[in-house]
Amino acid sequence: MKITWLGHACFLIEGKKRILIDPFLTGNPKAPVKPEDLDVDLILVTHGHGDHLGDAELISKRCNASIVAIYELSVYLSKRGCETIGMNIGGSFDFEGVKISMVKAEHSADIVGDEIVSGGKAVGYIVEDEVTVYHAGDTDVFMDMKLIGEIYSPKVALLPIGGFYTMSPRTALKAIELIKPEIVIPMHYDTFPVIRQNPEEFKRDAESLGVKVVVLKPGESLEV
Ligand code: NI
Ligand code: MN
Repeated sequence: MKITWLGHACFLIEGKKRILIDPFLTGNPKAPVKPEDLDVDLILVTHGHGDHLGDAELISKRCNASIVAIYELSVYLSKRGCETIGMNIGGSFDFEGVKISMVKAEHSADIVGDEIVSGGKAVGYIVEDEVTVYHAGDTDVFMDMKLIGEIYSPKVALLPIGGFYTMSPRTALKAIELIKPEIVIPMHYDTFPVIRQNPEEFKRDAESLGVKVVVLKPGESLEV
């Protein structure tokens, strides 16, 4: 299975299916691809902030790929003409042999445009394809990450480390202790000056906890 970081919180997971998460490409100075370059089967969105919802609508319509989101955000996207799968925290469904579960995150979630529209809650996802991957979304560390680790045993955890809006390297280290993944890929850093971090320093500190940290550049992949 191949996991490609497309910058910020955007990942493409290619196993039995091609699953795209949080496609913020247009307007992302670090995005390695354009939304037109992608061909995907399903899109997962963790919350309605622009740096996560991003190009989801465009890619969904072009690829005929449904968007998975929390119920309130799915209704918002349905009204914009998207095919959606509106679920909620704790729920799972089978997408043609790939199990998708929605899990908790600690973050705000309203959609901020000309007006502020309710976006439900921010969430994370567990993707059980050939390998189990946990995408934490935008979140602080929270104790229930221990439950997420125990229930789903993710081999790979995609964790934000940028700080300011999410966990920082300091709190992400605590998240790793709770989740106990084999591999961590840091995300949601260096896109903007306010979330600048040193991923190599994070890698060194995290690997002293016995986890492997893979620091990708936008566009790079990990085979697992
Ligand atoms: Ni956010
Ligand atoms: Mn964000």
